[in-house]
Amino acid sequence: MNDKITIAISKGRILADTLPVLEKMGMAPLEDLDTTRKLLIDTEHPQVRVVVVRATDVPTYVQYGAADLGIAGKDVLMESGSESLYELMDLDICKCKLMVAGYKEPKHGARRMRVATKYVHVAQEYFAQQGKQVEIIKLYGSMELAPMTDLADIIVDLVDTGNTLRANGLEPLEHIADISSRLVANKASMKVKFDTMQTVVEQFRQHLTA
Ligand code: ATP
Ligand code: PRP
Repeated sequence: MNDKITIAISKGRILADTLPVLEKMGMAPLEDLDTTRKLLIDTEHPQVRVVVVRATDVPTYVQYGAADLGIAGKDVLMESGSESLYELMDLDICKCKLMVAGYKEPKHGARRMRVATKYVHVAQEYFAQQGKQVEIIKLYGSMELAPMTDLADIIVDLVDTGNTLRANGLEPLEHIADISSRLVANKASMKVKFDTMQTVVEQFRQHLTA
């Protein structure tokens, strides 16, 4: 194991659930991620470093080889169209569902149904497959507000406990996909840094099942 490898990790929930696994693997970051201003962080393992980035940036870092491995939600991978990455493992963390949600019987009259979401490509494909013509409105967060303010008739968003929908008087309407976090790899890194990549991936496998 001679090559250095970089793991791009999605900030927020995924990072919180990944840190204990990295610790068990002997790859804990050497900085306190809550306070450090450093962005490229060494770990206890001399050959492994991490970058902590926005969820939607993880596939980009891995695709271009700026990171060799990445940890991102399946939702983000579906939206980014991640054919150029290897999806190596389901890490079984940050589980939720990607759903259509809204008021019980959304009414849009004669105009096209308006769908608010940050998952523009996934939503487009989902409704196209159903032969439904919809207008997609891109939002970056708080999707639940859209039906409440008449910005949109329905939303496509993540649902876990359903508390956010319930608190805002909305309901889950249709299931699109089960979501969890995945370990992804840059294709070239899998060849060029084969031994190191295999070792780290195997560590993830062992410590997740342990
Ligand atoms: P960004 O900062 O780029 O907007 P974000 O706010 O979506 O990212 P998080 O809320 O931490 O970041 O979500 C990161 C990932 O965690 C999502 O891509 C999804 O896979 C998963 N996730 C999001 N919300 C939930 C939830 N309520 N329960 C379980 N997993 C979730
Ligand atoms: C996510 C998602 C929903 C909520 C679902 O939002 O966008 O709003 O979690 O979880 P629940 O079914 O358990 O309520 P998050 O909390 O990440 O906030 P965000 O809108 O800033 O992404």
